[in-house]
Amino acid sequence: MIPVGTAWLDSLWPQSTQHFGGISVISIKYYFQIFLNMSQICKRSILTANRVVINSPAVLRCKSTWFSDVKMGPPDAILGVTEAFKKDTNPKKINLGAGAYRDDNTKPFVLPSVREAEKRLVGRALDKEYATIIGLPDFYNKAIELALGEQSQRLKAKHNATTQAISGTGALRVGGAFLSKFWQGNREIYLPTPSWGNHVPIFEHSGLPVKRYRYYNPKNCNLDFGGMVEDLKKIPETSIVLLHACAHNPTGVDPSTEQWRELSQLFKQRNLYPFFDMAYQGFATGNVDGDAQAVRIFEADGHDFCLAQSFAKNMGLYGERAGTYSVICADEQEAARCLSQIKILIRALYSNPPIHGARIAAEILNSADLRSQWLKDVKCMADRIIDVRSKLKSNLEKLGSTHNWEHIVNQIGMFCFTGLTPEQVDSLIKNHSVYLTKDGRISMAGVTSKNVEYLAESIHKVTK
Ligand SMILES: Cc1ncc(COP(=O)(O)O)c(C=O)c1O
Repeated sequence: MIPVGTAWLDSLWPQSTQHFGGISVISIKYYFQIFLNMSQICKRSILTANRVVINSPAVLRCKSTWFSDVKMGPPDAILGVTEAFKKDTNPKKINLGAGAYRDDNTKPFVLPSVREAEKRLVGRALDKEYATIIGLPDFYNKAIELALGEQSQRLKAKHNATTQAISGTGALRVGGAFLSKFWQGNREIYLPTPSWGNHVPIFEHSGLPVKRYRYYNPKNCNLDFGGMVEDLKKIPETSIVLLHACAHNPTGVDPSTEQWRELSQLFKQRNLYPFFDMAYQGFATGNVDGDAQAVRIFEADGHDFCLAQSFAKNMGLYGERAGTYSVICADEQEAARCLSQIKILIRALYSNPPIHGARIAAEILNSADLRSQWLKDVKCMADRIIDVRSKLKSNLEKLGSTHNWEHIVNQIGMFCFTGLTPEQVDSLIKNHSVYLTKDGRISMAGVTSKNVEYLAESIHKVTK
């Protein structure tokens, strides 16, 4: 029952003997209590009735319920694109919305290394017991080593507090929870403009106010390094700054090695805290070590930082939800203390992570033959994307497009920020059945040797 009462009447009229035109306060309170109780009974009856007449949605709609004030939320922007694509009957339709790798026949791709790892796991007939709160050590220890490298001094000194997480999103969310509870500096997280659409809700949900810094220059479809540095020089010291470690989503634009070095020095001067999001290690260039350069530069410069890793893209383990969250601490003792608190947070959030994806990743990372197969698989995916980038650009040029499409091949990773306007995007969808997000981002994974000509023709027509 909803708590109601007449205590507030007592505070209004402590003298319960007061009279108003012959009616005592005691009587007012008595009748008022009856009125409140009746309204509660009515409300409960309506709720019960609603459950009984569950087959009558019209009745449900006009009655008061526990959640009658809940408003309909907007659909997810990317899932909305896929829904519209599914309904389209044009045989030439192309879906460039979803950020999941597809082979040259636009089919989902299970990596050969993953298939083989799974076969070996099934052969071992493993049990399905719970993992520990922080997951499988064979997975998370190898995962952080993949990011920082086998020679990492911080790992050798055990400065890392690493936990398995529910893929990259879960890692960011655990990181958000940890920083929200324990961050002693300026309690704001700064994101690049633009950034992956889920970053804002993840950190807001964690209780961290979100602010922005400049990152992308739409005029030349390139990094706005000057604007980025200018903004990072102005934000309050000790703020948390999110950095996409490689293959920035949605722009596909990353700082160069030299620029990462400069950023690392700037973070030191301004006493900023780096939070790396690494969702595409290996996917950007096909080389897992090369793609980890930003994190490794910051490590070598002696930063303490934190890192979210995802194995959704580089192992194609999308639905398996394998990832890690690490805090690189000042020393081993600090790492142990942080890990103990991370365990407490995870226990309350989801108790412990799923095991199957982590087992697959561990099998790959721990066996020499599977690991070398996986490195080939990653390279093969990255190379296909690089190949269709140059095919798209050359097809546009062949058609006589006078625009500068250099950024299609200069940008890296899964996405290309085309520079198409919302009106051009609308026309691509309506008139050509080419589906993409409003911001002009295309997932290069949906482009193949078979549809690239049609895509180029469509883009040419809407940009003439
Ligand atoms: C920048 C970035 N971070 C994190 C993620 C998290 O992905 P997942 O939770 O599937 O690992 C994504 C996925 O698209 C991403 O693009």
